[in-house]
Amino acid sequence: TVEPTPVPTSELVLPPPEPFGPETCYTFPGDFLLGVAASAVQIEGAVADEGRTPVHMDALSLFSPGRTDNFVANEHYYLYKQDIERIASMGIRYYRFSIPWSRILPFVLPGTPVNQQGLSHYDDLINLVLEKGMLPAIVLHHTDTPLEFYPNVSAITIAPGTGGVGYTDSGYHLSFNNVTFEDAFVNYGKIVMTHFADRVPIWWTFNEPLLGARNGHSIDAVIKAHARLYHFYKSEIKGTGKISLTLNDNFGVPRNPSNASDVEAATHFNAFQLATFANPIFLGQDYPDAFKDTVSDYVPLTAEDMSYINGTADFFSIQPYTATVVSPPPNDTIADCAANISHPLRPYCVTQSTTTTTGWNMGYASQSYVYITPAYFRTYLNYLWNTFRAPVAVTEFGFPIFGEDDKKQSDQEFDSPRSWYYQSYLSEGLKALWEDGVDWIGVFAWSWADNWEFGDYAQHFGIQTVNRTTQVRRYKKSFFEKRRKEQPSTLSP
Ligand code: NOJ
Repeated sequence: TVEPTPVPTSELVLPPPEPFGPETCYTFPGDFLLGVAASAVQIEGAVADEGRTPVHMDALSLFSPGRTDNFVANEHYYLYKQDIERIASMGIRYYRFSIPWSRILPFVLPGTPVNQQGLSHYDDLINLVLEKGMLPAIVLHHTDTPLEFYPNVSAITIAPGTGGVGYTDSGYHLSFNNVTFEDAFVNYGKIVMTHFADRVPIWWTFNEPLLGARNGHSIDAVIKAHARLYHFYKSEIKGTGKISLTLNDNFGVPRNPSNASDVEAATHFNAFQLATFANPIFLGQDYPDAFKDTVSDYVPLTAEDMSYINGTADFFSIQPYTATVVSPPPNDTIADCAANISHPLRPYCVTQSTTTTTGWNMGYASQSYVYITPAYFRTYLNYLWNTFRAPVAVTEFGFPIFGEDDKKQSDQEFDSPRSWYYQSYLSEGLKALWEDGVDWIGVFAWSWADNWEFGDYAQHFGIQTVNRTTQVRRYKKSFFEKRRKEQPSTLSP
């Protein structure tokens, strides 16, 4: 036998360089806001426990036939410790959640007692988030207006023609015992901000107000309440964190970009959804014509209003799940979904959700589909940055896979379309950041687990499953593919 001659260390051949690495891939900046999101009314359950009084969404299932209630949901109110452990194990930096007004102020109005049990629950939750190396990010209003604002509870239903996504109004324009929604909400917001400001670096006043704001008075109340809380946080309690409100939702693109009426419809759609809020808040400008021409009862902004509202958001917050293909009525049908979209960035139609007919007062009917539309994601980030010149955070995005029960459990755990969704969107977002120069500052996945989607549990947006009988959570495939590289945040609470 021949003894092998040892190779001198200096002559060892190194393996070829990794094909992917920091030199060849775009990566997230160190201070990028990477997180997961959920809202109290969709996960907490415990709707009548520890002082919480009913909110409008609790009543939805009672008056909308076929809708399931949220009374237990994910029992996150009781299971939050294990949930936060599981979220932390993803390695993400931020947990975005909402605090329900009616758990902090069960009697709702200014001057009524604060529920200390409610406050200490969120103290514990926030402290645990921090202990696990994450940062809490709080939404003050996420589809949970106290029921007290509703003189007619049975009117709380899914709005006809919205396919289950648009529910009837959120009470933003109502008053209760002669106290307006605006004043009462500002009072609640001040209590929560004052109590948690020392530990919470990011705040949103409202989440997607257009989901529930059904008239001009509502929108006026939302914008003014938002501006008042911004000034309170910055000037009175000298908060050092960031504040915004999240806007709806999916980017409107013309069905056929060479058809002038489709282009006009898409322009109108985006102006209605975005500029209605963003003109006064980010640009110091009046409401867009798309809003003024279609909403009869809007309250005109005075010069004084405009200077008070201007600049009251530190970043643009958007939740672009997919694109909305827009054309004027009446030629928009579901059958057109896969067949007739003539657009250079044609989306890849993986599955089709219920449709949303967003015709209520946007002036142009349109249809929205759940597509995996990564190219639009990049286009949309560019559009927002170029139009409103504010850093853009994607505060929700996600992909629903439908299934009612545990028989579908294995499908849910091997949720490849969701992985494609997240990976393709993030990759397009990174191009917007590094190639296009968009100031894209963060992204939050919806959601860390399947949850209550306003009347059903069938739309599985989660990166974990939840067994509806045992409450056992299990990681899905997409969970493992959403891990981040170690990165410190420049934000500190
Ligand atoms: C946005 C809303 O904020 C959230 O509550 C909802 O569950 C997701 N969209 C999915 O529809």
